[in-house]
Order: sequence, then C-alpha cells, then structure tokens
Amino acid sequence: MCGIIGYIGKGNVKDILVEGLKRLEYRGYDSSGIAVINRGRITCTKAVGNISKLEEKISGKKMPGNVGIAHTRWATHGSPILKNAHPHMDIRNRIAVVHNGIIENFQYLRNKLTKKGVRFRSDTDTEVLAHLISQNFKGNLSEAVRNSLKQVEGTYGIAVICSDTPNEIVAAKKGSPLIVAVGKDEMFVTSDLSATLRHTKKIIPLEDNEMAIIRPDNYEIKDIENVPVLKKIEEVSWNIDMIEKGGYRHFMLKEIHEQPESITNSMRGRIDEALSSSRLGGLLVFGNKLKKVEKIIISACGTSWHAGLIGEYMIEDLARIPVEVEYASEFRYRNPILNEKTLIIAVSQSGETADTLAAMREAKIKNSIIMGICNVVGSSIARESDGGIYLHAGPEIGVASTKAFTSQVTVLLLLALHFGRMNDLSKSKSKEIIDELRTIPSKVETILKEENKIKKLAELYFNKNNFLYLGRGYNFPTALEGALKLKEISYIHAEGYPAAEMKHGPIALIDKDMPVVVIATSDTVYDKIISNIQEIKARNGKVIAVVNKGDTKIKKLADHVISIPKTMEILSPLLTIIPMQLLAYHIALKRGCNVDQPRNLAKSVTVE
Ligand code: G6P
Repeated sequence: MCGIIGYIGKGNVKDILVEGLKRLEYRGYDSSGIAVINRGRITCTKAVGNISKLEEKISGKKMPGNVGIAHTRWATHGSPILKNAHPHMDIRNRIAVVHNGIIENFQYLRNKLTKKGVRFRSDTDTEVLAHLISQNFKGNLSEAVRNSLKQVEGTYGIAVICSDTPNEIVAAKKGSPLIVAVGKDEMFVTSDLSATLRHTKKIIPLEDNEMAIIRPDNYEIKDIENVPVLKKIEEVSWNIDMIEKGGYRHFMLKEIHEQPESITNSMRGRIDEALSSSRLGGLLVFGNKLKKVEKIIISACGTSWHAGLIGEYMIEDLARIPVEVEYASEFRYRNPILNEKTLIIAVSQSGETADTLAAMREAKIKNSIIMGICNVVGSSIARESDGGIYLHAGPEIGVASTKAFTSQVTVLLLLALHFGRMNDLSKSKSKEIIDELRTIPSKVETILKEENKIKKLAELYFNKNNFLYLGRGYNFPTALEGALKLKEISYIHAEGYPAAEMKHGPIALIDKDMPVVVIATSDTVYDKIISNIQEIKARNGKVIAVVNKGDTKIKKLADHVISIPKTMEILSPLLTIIPMQLLAYHIALKRGCNVDQPRNLAKSVTVE
C-alpha cells in the first residue's frame, strides 16, 4: 500500500529519498514519485512501475536542495498511470503533496475548486489537497495545511513542501500511519519506519489529528486546532539487518526460514513455570476485567483472520469461553452484540489495517474491552488497544505473511493458556502443552530441511490452474491459509475447505488435473481424513498429503507425502503450515512470479 518518506537535512536528498522508497517497495505499489525543492523551485519526477524506472528518470538530474518528499502509490482513485502518481502539485507548482489514505469528499471539493478555475491534472483524490493548501497559503504552510484539512473528510497521512517556505516539511495524520524520525541535524517523516531505520532509531509516532512541522534541527507537534502537543521520542529495537534479505533470494523465503527463531521470540520470557501458565505483561493493565469476560470476538483480516480461527479453537478448548471470529470489514458495519464483558481481540501483523482498526473503534464505543495482538511496535492498533501482546516476530517484509502467522498462533496459544488457567485448565495439562510448545522451533527446523523435496513437488505441479486444500479441526484454518498463500503469490486459483465439506460441492471439481493438498496428521480426525483421501482417489484426483513421520497408511493411498514431526493436535498448525508456505513459494518461483511483491496486493491495507 502507499508509502511516504520526507527528508530535510544536509544529506543527499535524492539518494536518501530513493533509498527510502526502495525500503517501502515491499508494501506493494504501482508507481512512484519524488519532489525536491531546488533553488526556490520544486523539481518533481514520477514514474509508473518499479522504483528503478524512477531512478532511470532522475539519474541524470541534479537535485541539490535539502528538502524533499517521495511516495510509492497503490492505486485507489484513478488508474496507475503517470499523471496519477504522487507528489501532486498546485497550479503554480509551489506546493507538493504526498498522501496515503482516501479523501472521501474529494468530488465535492474538486467541483468547488473547478468552479474557482482550478484545472486538475490527475484523477486522484489527493490533488484536491495540493490546490486547497495553495488557496489557503498566506505565507505560513502549517496554517494553510491546517485550514485545508478542516474541509476534508476521510483519512490521510500527508507530507507537504512549499517552495516559498523551503526550510520545513509539514505532515499531518488522520487514519493513516505517520511517523517523525529524528536524526542528528536531519529529520524525516515516513509512513513506515523501514524507510528511515538506516538513519535513526528515534521516532515519534503521530496520533490522529496531529500535525508535525519538521526542520533539520527541530520539530513541532501540534493538534489540528494549533495546540502544541508534548510527545516523547521513542527508541525502536529493530535494526537494519532485520530488514535486509540476509543471503536469501526473497524476503518471503528468509521469513519462512526465520520461524524457529520468531516462534521462540514470541514465547521468550512469557512462560510462568511455577503456575504452568503464561506470563503476559501487556495484560496487566486489564486488572480483574479479564476474569469477567463472557464472550471473546477476534477481529482480523487475511492471514491474521486465519490465525484468529485457530485462536478460537484453542481458547474454547482450553478456557471454555465462547469465541467468535469476524472479518473486521464485516464486523465494523454490522450491529454486533457487545457489552463491557465482551473482549475484542484485534489481530494484525502491521497494526495498521484500516478495517481492523475501525472494527476495534466500533467495539470501543460499545464499552467492550479491547486487546491488540500485533507485530509492529507503536502501530495504531497497539496504541489504541487497552492492552495487548506483541508478536516479537521481527519485521515481516514479504507481502505474503508467514512468520507473523506462526507467531500469532503462538501468542494466541499463550493467551488461551492464560484464560484456561484462570478457568478450569489443570496445571498438568497446561504443563504438557507448554513442554511441547518448547519443542516446536526445533521441529520447524526439521521440516525446513525437507525443502528440496517440496521443491520437487513444485516442479511437478507448478503448471496446474487449480488447487484444493483440505484439513479438519485445528487444521481447517491451516488449509485456508495454505490456499491463501498459493493464490497470493502464484496466482493459481486455490480453495481451502474443511475436508468433510468436500462432499458438498468441491468434489465436483475433482479429476486427474486437480491437485489436493490434504493435512492428514495423526490426530482425532485421522480416520475421517483417510476416508476423504479415498474419495479423492476414487475420482482420480492427485493427493499431496502432509502426514506425521512413520505414517504408513496414507503413504499407500496418496500420490505424494510430506512427512513432518509429530506434535499435539492443538500445536499442529505451527508445523503443518510450514510445508504449505514452502510449496506456495516454490510454485510461484517456477511460474516466474514476483514472490515478495505479488500483483495487486499490499502488505498493509491502510484504506477500506
Ligand atoms: C493484507 C496482506 C495480508 C495480511 C492482511 C492483514 O491483505 O497482504 O498478508 O494478512 O493484509 O494484515 P494485518 O497487518 O492486519 O495482519
């Protein structure tokens, strides 16, 4: 999704902005642009496609100056063509704006401006901001921005420069993330700290309706009413190595291989040996409130929603509290039954997904208890939750989520143990699960060593057009996630189903050209899964089964088996998902797809 970086300081503004844009590439984008103030004039260059296209265009251009803004665009209003790329400028080319979010009343504002004689050069909602700010500009840029934003409905993270006031960047936020990053005699504004991490770890995340005026050696933060806001500088613990590829061909592959470590990090320091429970510092703020919870609603999108489904099974199983899992985009527009004894858990890797954030706010109005489970420290969901749990999975750059998923499942298990022990989960049962959880990272390692076998399977099946994924119980959500991984990065149509549901529709699709990935680990539904495999084979379908080591029954039935170590059923998704991630990766690679930046997708969906 769109990304912003702005820079003011003595460094090479062009190089710093382009490098920042490259760090934002992983979010998904279709065009990019840069604007720099150069001897009292703004030089603006845009390109459709990769950042390399923008680099080609600016390679010969000298861009001295010490202030500039840049943007990666993911089209919402207006197709991904040159004129729609950001920055957008006013008629006199003295103001340039980059914007993430959606200006909902842009048509109204556009009509109004058109009547005043403004000629629009793009189809975007953003361009109205440039003209509005220009019309309100009387020598003070922040005042012009403030007065313009008062007329705007919708969401925005913006950075604005003006050739008449070349010693500052004005930024403002409502609904889209924006961070001020504080360097030594240089200052940045960005929507994603990956873009500035190489320069500084000191950040000030802006809240909604806040504005920042940044200069090389100072900054001011105010609210939209011009009242100064005192903010503390925070120090982030991520370092630059964590956002580099570290010798892997793709971020996604690196992140798949990081899972033994990321799962370990998600549980590190969170086990209470004496109580055989979990110790989750971020829940202390809730005091006794959690003891009174009568219903839990997990709200999320995409992969996080799949992790939420596994969380539902875990919490109901261990803690006997009713759980519902809702797509955040549906939940926010329903009229859900909530009260102060309902706990809403917003699960999100980025902590910025617009629908998840809106669902959380909706529940807040209804007095529910709000808990966030996210990866990005200081993200909007983290800040707006009453309390919560960080994943500590490290930055996830590949658009297709992998290590965040296994960390979400790990954290949801810790939460289920916490609730379980508060209710009637026995100490011995809890201890058994915790002991087994500790073995998971090394078991993941064992599966990763089988990568070559999975690669061979990819070579056999990469040219198929459809895939079916089946699983039961804890592994039904894993089947959904396996199918999502494949379709996201290889563009093969893939569906996940509860195995027994196959008879009620998908069985009609099965023939010799339909590969079916079946999660068939030896758990309570093992025999039922065997019957499902027989049904597929009776119709000449090709079965790729994920089984436990030593399994002999399924080996005789399936076309291929991928063997994984045995674990408890409740923990099995942490292992069964690994071969599916690798299969999706290698199939996509064989098909020549851009694994880390699949078409049309965004890493963090900050618009509705
Ligand atoms: C996008 C990403 C998915 C992700 C979903 C939810 O669609 O492409 O990988 O699962 O958003 O994101 P979140 O950051 O809230 O987990």
